[in-house]
Amino acid sequence: MIPEKLREQLAKARSVAVLTGAGVSAESGVPTFRDAQTGLWAQFKPEELATPRAFRRNPKLVWEWYAWRRELVASAQPNPAHIALAELELLFPKFNLITQNVDGLHQRAGSQHVIELHGNITRTKCFDEDTVVEAWPETDAVPPKCPKCGGLLRPDVVWFEESLPETAIGAAIAASSTCDIFLSIGTSTVVYPAAELPSLALNRGATVLEINPARTPFTDRAHFSLEGTAGVVLPVLAAVVKKGRKGGRKGA
Ligand code: OAD
Repeated sequence: MIPEKLREQLAKARSVAVLTGAGVSAESGVPTFRDAQTGLWAQFKPEELATPRAFRRNPKLVWEWYAWRRELVASAQPNPAHIALAELELLFPKFNLITQNVDGLHQRAGSQHVIELHGNITRTKCFDEDTVVEAWPETDAVPPKCPKCGGLLRPDVVWFEESLPETAIGAAIAASSTCDIFLSIGTSTVVYPAAELPSLALNRGATVLEINPARTPFTDRAHFSLEGTAGVVLPVLAAVVKKGRKGGRKGA
């Protein structure tokens, strides 16, 4: 399943960057966005739920939709893909996990250094002040109000038409442009600027591997493409890396 050439590169890599998308959490029961039958955007309209304009128009609807997703995520468990990525982090001197996911499942699986490009659904912030709000008084208001300024509270996620957090995208660009190996996993590679990161790594000379059961606009450009689900492929990859790097150290 893992080509010999890729095994060799993994055995000697010092710096790895990984980009994950919704597909990595699919086997935890968290729906993706663009899969034809099951994706969230097959059932809901992003412009009615995931833009600042949508929130201004109908804050209650948007808050409740995210509350539903927050509950879904809270009851989900990390799957073998998340766990394998946490294991892989320990096997390389430098390992950056960049995620578009807002579900926090990488951290719950034990990943230590996670760059969250699109925020985190478990956090809340003030719509007016753009600052994280940890707690607010019990209320029937939907959405609740900011205890400091009275503005509306919203999930701390990036919506369409909004910029990505500067520190996160800066760290993601730095990691992607300096890594030896780049893994693009479970993402349709269509939402920018995240979708640019695999190309950036490629142009800077990294070996790029894609893991996805379906083809993406990036598939033909990747050096290696493993067709399969993340929950099946990543544990195999982690086992191969573990074995390869042990062997490498002994021989050194
Ligand atoms: P998408 O829903 O666009 O793509 C999910 C990808 O995962 C597809 O390429 C699937 O083929 C693949 N996939 C499905 N099941 C999988 C599995 N078990 N293992 C591996 N891959 C699997 O999700 P993203 O690319 O993450 O943005 O979407 C990017 C952004 O668009 C999201 O962060 C979100 C969305 O609108 C915001 O909310 C800002």
